[in-house]
Amino acid sequence: MEKNQPSAQPVIAAAARQLTIAIDGPAGSGKSTVARRVAEKLGCLYLDSGAMYRAVTVLAIRHKLPAGSPKLTALVQECHIKFADNGKTVLLDSEDVTTCIRTPAVNKQVADVAKIPEIRKEIVKHQQRIGAEGSIVAEGRDLTTIVFPDANFKFYLDASVTERARRRLAELRSQNVQTTLDEVEAEIRMRDEKDTSREHSPLREAEDAIVVDTTHKTIDEVVNFIVAQVQVSR
Ligand code: DC
Repeated sequence: MEKNQPSAQPVIAAAARQLTIAIDGPAGSGKSTVARRVAEKLGCLYLDSGAMYRAVTVLAIRHKLPAGSPKLTALVQECHIKFADNGKTVLLDSEDVTTCIRTPAVNKQVADVAKIPEIRKEIVKHQQRIGAEGSIVAEGRDLTTIVFPDANFKFYLDASVTERARRRLAELRSQNVQTTLDEVEAEIRMRDEKDTSREHSPLREAEDAIVVDTTHKTIDEVVNFIVAQVQVSR
């Protein structure tokens, strides 16, 4: 794919026809960075669905509620999770929680929150409302299968566990977090297991998704590949 990609992609007027691009994949597959850049290139809104489960986890922590508590579901029904600055800023009831949703406490608890079906139901409805408002590039674990099953384009990004661990390690080191490749790889394997084996909306490849192995590809190569697929088919 690399050979045929022009170095600079023209921007498509996504607004001309509503466009939904859904991207799923495991932790470290590069989907967040790729989705954000594809959205920028195509002039679409970027939807980070994991950020919404993270915002709900902030609510659970603040209200000292366990993930499965009906009170938490009620709070989720009432709260407003919004994105500003094209997905870079996450707002929970107008409060900027962009930094709070990435703390170790949230990292630790978010998978338990994200597996509760009542919470997923609310968050999925919210994501679908955002998707109905205009062209969107949405990424997560169930965007191609559950949230936007009729998306115009579906991609499943993957990479070897070791490569995903290397990427995560580089990110952690840049934040001065001391850890080893083995530790990070073990954590990634655990997250994969949780994401793929949970009862509700497990991570899986949609039958009609284009699978992209990003192990030996740069972010730009993956972005250009996705943008090219969209251009060719429109
Ligand atoms: O992509 P992330 O690490 O920010 O996701 C945070 C958590 O939310 C992770 O446990 C997977 C879960 N998640 C999910 O269940 N469904 C999604 N569509 C996105 C994320």
